[in-house]
Amino acid sequence: MPEKKTFYITTPIYYPSDKLHIGHSYTTVAADAMARFKRLTGYEVMFLTGTDEHGQKIEKIARENKVTPKEYVDRIVAGIKELWKLLDISYDDFIRTTDKRHEAVVQKIFQKLYDQGDIYKSEYEGWYCTPCESFWTEHQLADGNCPDCGRPVERVREESYFFKLSKYQDRLIKYIEEHPEFIQPQSRQNEMLNNFLRPGLEDLCVSRTSFKWGIPVPFDGQHVIYVWLDALSNYISALGYLSEDDERIRKFWPADVHLVGKEIVRFHTIIWPIMLMALELPLPRQVFGHGWLILEGGKMSKSKGNVVDPVVLVDRYGLDAIRYFLLREVPFGADGVFSNEALINRINSDLANDLGNLVSRTVAMIDKYFGGEVPAPGEPTDLDKDLEALALATPGRVEGLMDQLLFSNALSEIWRLVGRTNKYIDETAPWVLAKTEEGKARLTTVLYHLAESLRFISVLISPFMTRTPVEIQRQLGIKDEVSWDSLKEFGRLKPGTRVCRGEVIFPRLDVAEELKALEHLTESKKDSDGAANGNGSGSGAAKEDGARSSESKQAGVQAAGKEAEGRESLPEITIDDFAKLDLRVARVIAAEKVEKADKLLKLTLDVGGQSRQVVSGIARHYEPQDLVGKNVVIIANLKPVKLRGILSEGMILAASDSSGKLEVVSVSGEIESGAKVN
Ligand code: MSP
Repeated sequence: MPEKKTFYITTPIYYPSDKLHIGHSYTTVAADAMARFKRLTGYEVMFLTGTDEHGQKIEKIARENKVTPKEYVDRIVAGIKELWKLLDISYDDFIRTTDKRHEAVVQKIFQKLYDQGDIYKSEYEGWYCTPCESFWTEHQLADGNCPDCGRPVERVREESYFFKLSKYQDRLIKYIEEHPEFIQPQSRQNEMLNNFLRPGLEDLCVSRTSFKWGIPVPFDGQHVIYVWLDALSNYISALGYLSEDDERIRKFWPADVHLVGKEIVRFHTIIWPIMLMALELPLPRQVFGHGWLILEGGKMSKSKGNVVDPVVLVDRYGLDAIRYFLLREVPFGADGVFSNEALINRINSDLANDLGNLVSRTVAMIDKYFGGEVPAPGEPTDLDKDLEALALATPGRVEGLMDQLLFSNALSEIWRLVGRTNKYIDETAPWVLAKTEEGKARLTTVLYHLAESLRFISVLISPFMTRTPVEIQRQLGIKDEVSWDSLKEFGRLKPGTRVCRGEVIFPRLDVAEELKALEHLTESKKDSDGAANGNGSGSGAAKEDGARSSESKQAGVQAAGKEAEGRESLPEITIDDFAKLDLRVARVIAAEKVEKADKLLKLTLDVGGQSRQVVSGIARHYEPQDLVGKNVVIIANLKPVKLRGILSEGMILAASDSSGKLEVVSVSGEIESGAKVN
């Protein structure tokens, strides 16, 4: 017997949040598809997910809710498990950082690192971002705020334990250089090396004394262990590391892949591997930092009020449509925009038209022409062999793509087979064949090929969708022959199998109606979250501002200084005139130089969950990356114009003085994007 292959995959453990949105579901659905794929292809899989329950943030929310932290997390974790159930997440273990089995291991790890001199006591003075639970040095701050989330940081000064990251820095750089597959995609590897590792690591503060909700340092009860040290350990505590039953750690460690969102790659590729090096454990084979699912411009977040609720979507379109959309629409490494329109279009084109039709037509024709029994095929023609060849080649291609976590490409490879099979119907025209005796003889082969191709398709999609393959197999009467190995041969479907006509698997949606319904659902969500709508109407002041002349104005910058210089010559206005301006706080999501225009930057803004593009004449004053994360102020209802062929939908405010200095008007991260300025 060959030794069983193992595969260990993890998602991040989630912060207990009231509402996990479709963005969170994205990581977990991807991990689930991968786990299912590996099980299908013969691996013994360990798929771990869980919750990250300690820290100052939770302690504070629980206090606000007048419950103990444990009561608070218990309630939320139950909701998270419900969501994973709804999404058919086939995890093998769910670890909570409040589990005794986890807490004990974290304390042992801390003790071990302390005993061997990798953790030492000193005093920490610096900045702390509570929402991100991250420490920052003065020079890492962005405009005095957290460089990750842009929110204000607090000055902290505490007696703390430190972990000697610096000691391991060179070893880690060498490891990353020698293992290019360790951090993927490649761009994230460069970012880690160039932005963090090569400039030099400072030792990490790994304990806190200013709050209590954490795992106590075993030998110093005043301190709780830093949440990231606690959280990262989950990947080995769940396997029984340093416990009596360490069978799973021996079997599954090192992990094959940690799937993480791009903002937490840093923790997983610097702190985590150094912890493992210090513990003398091998490093995971890969940390894959995927992009964010963003909602037309901004990362979904509850505080922004732009979350898309997976429960609402699953309820309306069914689980498989949502799983398919998440995995197909967004190339896994990159950010992807979630839009209702894209969702409806995908459902209609790929699922209703391509796959759904193929199933109903095949089953209906077998029913009609052969009384519901799959006919025995005759000698295949070149056309049949062509379809067979594609069906036989697809599993290998899908496997190659899945090994690189290219979910979207794997699905498009499967849809190539779906498309080819649909084309085969057009090419063979079964309804014409059915008219003659000679044609009917050929029809047996055609319908057999359709049914057998659908068997291939149903097996191929089974890691991605959980209900549809079962329904296709039910309608086709397939009971066996659904293993990966059964795809090695075209012709395993037994002639004589009875098909069973059923419901249309993906009914076609009315695009306009659905968009209206979804908008309504999102709007009511926004209203209930109190998020401002930053989208100006384009009327009023914008129309009256027809004479926008200076280049800075054309370029979407309202330079307050310049206006001030000329104020005397401007006529007086009333408060009603001012009220025509829709001034809003906008968060800069991305910025880039406009080619061949040395003054212009193209900015992508998030205005209360809506995306805006503004071309701004500030390129001589700002490097694009310095603007990302800033909360600027825009005139949101300015009539859009094209500058150098690029659409500019508004103008950002900036002050400039007579010496030529210019500074964009910005507000602190405490004000939500979309907030009205007046
Ligand atoms: N608790 C930490 C992880 C600790 S792992 C040792 C954490 N939790 S989280 O709940 O904030 O995020 C969990 C995962 O969800 C992260 O990988 C994060 O990137 C992902 N996502 C959250 N919002 C997302 C999108 N809008 N799009 C894609 N992924 C998103 O971080």
